[in-house]
Amino acid sequence: MSFATLWESLLPIGRDGLSGGYRRFSWTPEDAACRAWFTRSAAERDLRVLTDSNGNLWAWWDPPGLAPGPGVPGGSKAVVTGSHLDSVPDGGAFDGPLGVVSAFAAVDLLRERGCLPVRPLGIAAFSEEEGARFGVACLGSRLLAGAIDPDAARALADAAGVTLAEAMAAAGHDPDGIGPDDGLLAAIGAYVELHVEQGRALADLGAAVAIGEQIWPHGRWRLDFTGRPDHAGTATLADRRDPMLPFAAAVLAARQAAAAHGARATVGKVTAEPGAVNAVSARVSAWLDARGPDERTLQAVVGEVLAAAREAAAGHGVELAAAPESVTPAVIFDPGLRERLASSLEAQGIRAPLLPTGAGHDAGVLAARVPTAMLFVRNPTGVSHSPAEHAEPADCAAGVRALATVLEDLACS
Ligand code: GLV
Ligand code: MN
Ligand code: MN
Repeated sequence: MSFATLWESLLPIGRDGLSGGYRRFSWTPEDAACRAWFTRSAAERDLRVLTDSNGNLWAWWDPPGLAPGPGVPGGSKAVVTGSHLDSVPDGGAFDGPLGVVSAFAAVDLLRERGCLPVRPLGIAAFSEEEGARFGVACLGSRLLAGAIDPDAARALADAAGVTLAEAMAAAGHDPDGIGPDDGLLAAIGAYVELHVEQGRALADLGAAVAIGEQIWPHGRWRLDFTGRPDHAGTATLADRRDPMLPFAAAVLAARQAAAAHGARATVGKVTAEPGAVNAVSARVSAWLDARGPDERTLQAVVGEVLAAAREAAAGHGVELAAAPESVTPAVIFDPGLRERLASSLEAQGIRAPLLPTGAGHDAGVLAARVPTAMLFVRNPTGVSHSPAEHAEPADCAAGVRALATVLEDLACS
């Protein structure tokens, strides 16, 4: 099956008719449709599908003659590729799905080339990578790697107050079993995630694919400003305790701190309660996403934003509660694996520069437990987390070739 056929079979799922963006949130009917697509695509390739205790999907190509699955005594460590199928609200088609579709297409290409794996080759689709529903980025891989407490994860709630435990149960997945799976991780020798680039570096370098070098440390902080609801026409300015004002100060401080430190800070989500045009708000909740080239810079940016928010809140008689929702330290991908990718690509005449990224990935979480690498595919405008996200078909094909080359080296020899 061609890449285009596989790609187009996934495209309609969760696409919003108005924006053209994707709304694929974990444990929803759209998520179930993505899971069914994954299972179908694996079955079409005679791959064995498993859902792990955390709701991540796995499709295994078992080497002939070896007992099935990783972790089997005598079996050698598995090579895994993949990404995620969930999206941010109105996300693009490529962020996540490109890695999963390319993984299936790479299996097709390996078979065309007559390659047989000598160790288990797995394709993974991690659950809730974007944290769009429950707030914690890379939730599925974090649970697998033991990077989040299972009780805390079960209690995470979406905007409607539905907990992760309730959402999983409603979708037919037992939430009691979530948590670290050391046996599965110990059985994986390498994880290689292919992902659309979320910046313009490859377009500027004139290359179709890159090897990931590192991920900036990054995180999300929730800020709740609580004031006093009041009448927009009659409450004097002096009498108000308006939470919108320190919120606005925090947004401006975020921009200023990011610019001063060569970092990124974004407030992309905000809610105002009760949300009346003609009333001072009772509460404003905002989410700060901050990222920096190193831990010290990130801490400096977040520290400055929180200090400015506290000062403005105090000045307006507003209470402020601020807490991190998920924080991911800096990741330097495994140098040995990176070198191995570089030499296998070079041997095939594939030019792949090294790129750092400010975007988060399941590969970044797994890197704490498993040798991990990434491949990026050129995005001509660099726009991502937007319906305008794009990669040209020729570059997607180059990505599949690069991934197949790497997998052939790692799993078939
Ligand atoms: C995921 O794409 C992130 O970087 O937030
Ligand atoms: Mn993303
Ligand atoms: Mn992604």
